Amino acid sequence: MDNQLQLDAIQKSIIDDGITPELATSATQLVFGDGNPESQIVIVGEAPGKQEDLQGKPFVGASGKFLNEMLQMIDLKREDIYITNIVKYRPPENRDPKPDEKKAFLPYLQRQLEVIKPKILITLGRHSLNCFLPDLQISKVHGQPKRVSLSLKEGSEDTFTVVILPLYHPAAALYNPLQRQTLIDDFAQIPLLLSKIT
Ligand code: URA
Repeated sequence: MDNQLQLDAIQKSIIDDGITPELATSATQLVFGDGNPESQIVIVGEAPGKQEDLQGKPFVGASGKFLNEMLQMIDLKREDIYITNIVKYRPPENRDPKPDEKKAFLPYLQRQLEVIKPKILITLGRHSLNCFLPDLQISKVHGQPKRVSLSLKEGSEDTFTVVILPLYHPAAALYNPLQRQTLIDDFAQIPLLLSKIT
């Protein structure tokens, strides 16, 4: 089955399985993912915000605009990458996602990655980083690629190898000039990193 069809099936299963019913009720819609289902690069953010909730696509608000600008700087377009979030419904008032919400969505994120099998997994912000590498601090490891073996299903020995590039979240960097430049500099490594591992 082609990747898009498999992703569509995962999207449907989130609804059928009734994941995070409270968030599902307060949100306008599920924000599953967007972009190229065959991409070598997957970007994982935290959770949809207001614009994402209204439009049904990840990173279409202010953070998304900044992300698009950084992609442009390295000659990539949104259509070249695949982008999603850990939590796929907007938390009320944009509060941080709760641990049980992140846990509930993790198997679906793992299934998305299993389908796409990216070479690079870019985590935006601490929630996304800690979902894959729980012991690391974003302020210490941002911009440092880490080759990891990700297990795909809970309890299974199935793994695949991916390079995780931890980056600051564009929302945090938007209003902090120092972090903004750090994020731009970290982002600029992506083409070289990609050329080394493909
Ligand atoms: N912030 C995120 O983490 N994800 C989005 O989709 C939008 C803003």
